[in-house]
Amino acid sequence: MAPPDAMLEVRDLHAYYGKSHILHGVEMQVGEGEIVALLGRNGVGRSTLAKAIMGLVRCEGQILLRGKDVRGLRTFEVAQAGIGYVPENRDIFPTLTVRQNLVLGEKRSRSRQKPRWRLDDMYRMFPRLKEREDTAAGLLSGGEQQMLTLCRTLMGDPDLIIIDEPTEGLAPLVVAQVGEYLKTLKARGISVLLVEQKQAIALDISQRVYVMGHGQIVFEGTPQQLRADARVRQEWLEV
Ligand SMILES: Nc1ncnc2c1ncn2[C@@H]1O[C@H](COP(=O)(O)OP(=O)(O)OP(=O)(O)O)[C@@H](O)[C@H]1O
Ligand SMILES: [Mg+2]
Repeated sequence: MAPPDAMLEVRDLHAYYGKSHILHGVEMQVGEGEIVALLGRNGVGRSTLAKAIMGLVRCEGQILLRGKDVRGLRTFEVAQAGIGYVPENRDIFPTLTVRQNLVLGEKRSRSRQKPRWRLDDMYRMFPRLKEREDTAAGLLSGGEQQMLTLCRTLMGDPDLIIIDEPTEGLAPLVVAQVGEYLKTLKARGISVLLVEQKQAIALDISQRVYVMGHGQIVFEGTPQQLRADARVRQEWLEV
């Protein structure tokens, strides 16, 4: 049984693209305020799990958000229920300015009077966005677009955020800033499901780790346990 404070719980999840059966009974949980990393080699189904949670892929099984099944909801309804999603490909409105993109991400809060995040919080984490706030987002570099996507999702005030490979292809300085962003989320008690390829950042920032192989969870434990488990790393992670 899940602990009562599970923010997200996935039970026996199967996902499909047409006739190809990609996820085979995935079981995982993200606790309240917890950062959980999902690791695995290319093509094992990590992004498919993220998309299934967001209602972007056909699936069977249960996806419980605070105990309530959100499977089968449409993507905007999943977002309204409290899950933010940063997809692999940077997702911005290219003709709108940086500030307009951020404001568009903003959501009127359901229960809170004050929004949890303000533009200034975003600019503090990524000063570069402040410098470029009047620039059309399509003119930003890849790294800047990634910062913008991360921040726009946060402006939607999610309780849980799913981030798919946020550091891929970024310069080391930007990777470090993304690390700061993740630490800010942690400090504010936002739950995070972090899909990563880079073991170093994932193990550094997360409290628990899942490893996926061939559409199933093949390891679950603490970063320390994974570091100590050479067999799992060799079989499922290292190339
Ligand atoms: N739209 C799609 N239609 C058909 N098959 C797909 C589609 N998207 C992904 N797949 C297949 O599903 C499997 C899992 O893909 P997924 O994108 O989940 O992998 P991943 O673990 O995120 O790895 P990576 O991000 O490194 O590619 C792969 O075999 C992939 O080829
Ligand atoms: Mg992927």
